[in-house]
Amino acid sequence: MLSVVILAAGQGTRMRSALPKVLHVVGDRPLLEHVISTARELGAGEIHVVYGHGGDAVPKALAHLNVNWVLQEQQLGTGHAVAQAISHVKGERVLVLYGDVPLISAATLKRLIEAAGSEVGLLTVELDDPTGYGRIIRDGSGKVLRNVEQKDANASELWVREVNTGFLTAPAAKLSDWLGRLRNDNAQGEYYLTDVLAMAVGDGVAVNTAAPADVHEVLGINNKRQLAEIERHYQRIQATALMDAGVTLRDPARLDVRGQVSCGRDVEIDTNVILHGKVNIGSNTKIGPNCLIINSVIGDGVEILANTVIEEAEIGAGSRVGPFARIRPGTVLAGDAHIGNFVEIKKSTVGLGSKINHLSYVGDATIGNQVNIGAGTITCNYDGANKHQTIIEDEVFVGSDSQLVAPVTIGKGATIGAGATITKNVAPGALALSRTPQASREGWKRPTKKKS
Ligand code: UD1
Ligand code: CA
Repeated sequence: MLSVVILAAGQGTRMRSALPKVLHVVGDRPLLEHVISTARELGAGEIHVVYGHGGDAVPKALAHLNVNWVLQEQQLGTGHAVAQAISHVKGERVLVLYGDVPLISAATLKRLIEAAGSEVGLLTVELDDPTGYGRIIRDGSGKVLRNVEQKDANASELWVREVNTGFLTAPAAKLSDWLGRLRNDNAQGEYYLTDVLAMAVGDGVAVNTAAPADVHEVLGINNKRQLAEIERHYQRIQATALMDAGVTLRDPARLDVRGQVSCGRDVEIDTNVILHGKVNIGSNTKIGPNCLIINSVIGDGVEILANTVIEEAEIGAGSRVGPFARIRPGTVLAGDAHIGNFVEIKKSTVGLGSKINHLSYVGDATIGNQVNIGAGTITCNYDGANKHQTIIEDEVFVGSDSQLVAPVTIGKGATIGAGATITKNVAPGALALSRTPQASREGWKRPTKKKS
């Protein structure tokens, strides 16, 4: 069994934030949650998260993730941190991950574990500028001997460009023994996890190395600039996956995926689109520029036009929505609907082929098939205390600038004359009018300004 230990006790002062570092978000999830889900992807039998700085804030925020939280009261070094968890470990092998290094991939970690075999595995990279990192010291035959931290390194060791990423795997029993032997007599007065490398070599256990597929996988986040950089890289990965699945992105750098998106065939997504939460997009569907779509299902052959916001809604096949439409939670468009500019729909169903093309508010309504809602129509669903339903049956025509005061039912095929305020049910097939008769005065003169 593989036991994963995730270090997440550090302070993160340079984030300049009240929020503990590992709770800052990439995509739609806190940094630490990315790492936990990668550990699960690896099939880890148990996950221990070492927390400390920020107190209970981290375990509280991520309580739903069902991991073993281990408190490190004082941050005395990476070796001390792993030592806090080691007594809880039941697996034969330990893998150490970091709560502030979110893009490490399961594929890279699998290669690391394979490289380790029954010994120690260490993920290393060659950097043009290794400043700040621990250096990997090898012997003449290329065998790893030890790691030396920047602050403890001599001039020739500082020349080494191969660095420690921190990702390490070791047999649990041996690791436990080595951790117990760590000392803090170094430049920083810390218990270094990296000192177990030399101990392993001393015990005849080889340190086998692997490299990440992409250097972004091992980049930690210490400040908001690095957070933004990792977010960009994460978005690049999301966009690449969509394109590989056949989605056309007008500009992969101007799409943000903050959740799980699935797309059918021949989907086209224009620039500056944000897809949040769980979003399903059907085949032959086009998403226009500047749209925000949250937890929604968009059917086949749908066209979402520019600047549309859709949240927790279902958009049926063949519908056209926008530009500038707002579709709020609980809305279901059955299909072939036309929803136009400045139309807001909340908690309503709209039947097949119905049109609400301009400047309307529809809330708590059930609208049948082939209904036409004229410009400026409002369902008055709220009486100041309670919400009420509006029912509009099939083939109704609602004239422009009408108010439908709920609760109210408009029967099948009825017509509402423009400018009506409907407060009573309208029978099927009837014409309902509610307007002041028009009056005019022939030859009427406008007032003129008096001369002073
Ligand atoms: C560490 C490595 C260094 C490596 C670098 C890669 C050691 C001694 N050094 O250095 O070789 O090149 O990472 O980034 O391991 N943490 C705790 N508790 C502690 C100390 C640290 O949870 O007591 C956590 C931190 O929150 C952080 C991680 O461990 O996520 C690394 O700690 P940090 O102090 O940043 O290590 P580095 O000095 O960068
Ligand atoms: Ca009116």
